[in-house]
Amino acid sequence: MDNRHNPHDPIAAHYKTDGLLNRVISALRKTHGSLDRLTPADLAPIDSFHIRGRAATTELAKRAGISSRWQILDVGSGPGGTARFLAAEYGCQVTGLDLTAEYVSLAKRLSEIVGLEDTTQFEQGNALFMPFGAENFDCIWMEHLQMNIADKSKLVLEIHRVLKAEGRLVMHEVFKGDAGEPHLPVPWSEDSSTSFMVTPGKMRQILLAQGFEIIEWIDVTDSAREWFRSVQNRIVKSGLRPVGIHLLMGLNAEEKMANVNRNLQERRIKLIQALMKKPKYI
Ligand SMILES: C[S@@+](CC[C@H](N)C(=O)[O-])C[C@H]1O[C@@H](n2cnc3c(N)ncnc32)[C@H](O)[C@@H]1O
Repeated sequence: MDNRHNPHDPIAAHYKTDGLLNRVISALRKTHGSLDRLTPADLAPIDSFHIRGRAATTELAKRAGISSRWQILDVGSGPGGTARFLAAEYGCQVTGLDLTAEYVSLAKRLSEIVGLEDTTQFEQGNALFMPFGAENFDCIWMEHLQMNIADKSKLVLEIHRVLKAEGRLVMHEVFKGDAGEPHLPVPWSEDSSTSFMVTPGKMRQILLAQGFEIIEWIDVTDSAREWFRSVQNRIVKSGLRPVGIHLLMGLNAEEKMANVNRNLQERRIKLIQALMKKPKYI
């Protein structure tokens, strides 16, 4: 079975948490009162499911040189914050693809709330078998996805297939560090059965082997380490905020956040932002 539509996929089972949509909506109501005036920026604390949140996506978008004419695919879109940010700030059309049905529903609802349902769309599907034709997108966006995918060559092959010639691949991803295996659980995995970490060097090899041209490859681990240290200090001092990505992580959210911090401080994980291009073959 290829897990294309398998509701029991262990990765989707990891991300599926009971009452996700209601939990997020009621947290937003408690903090903002009415949902009527919410903007995409108001959702950032809860819809950027990656280290350094919206700040990291903003930085990456500046590197990518986005055009409003682009059709972008956000692969592993989760709650859809990146898709909404790109649609709202750059005026492009963004499609989000995610394995977990609950995230697709959440992303759609959040887009409706902030009036971005015409420029963002979300589909359930597997990044290894994307439901799109060849050369469909000008840009593929990937933030904190590939550590859930064992077959990274197949992932890169699929990305390459659906990307137009001269299209951009934009990546913000977590890799193995130099100091041993990461402490688990972490937000992307309860245990080693669903966490597939490789070094940045290995990922680079896979991307180059598929024919991607690397334009920028930046190690942003130091910024991630500082950011997470201050988040963790704040949690220890004042507890979790009413609206935050911990609401997406299940009952052991605090343990998962603490482990990401430990992994960063002990140099067990690295963060890379990269900008790549699919060459035009003649
Ligand atoms: C850590 S979240 C990141 C979400 C989003 N990129 C962000 O930064 O806010 C990882 C997401 O990848 C999705 N995912 C994991 N494996 C996938 C696959 N094979 N195909 C599509 N989505 C996948 C999960 O369902 C989850 O929503």
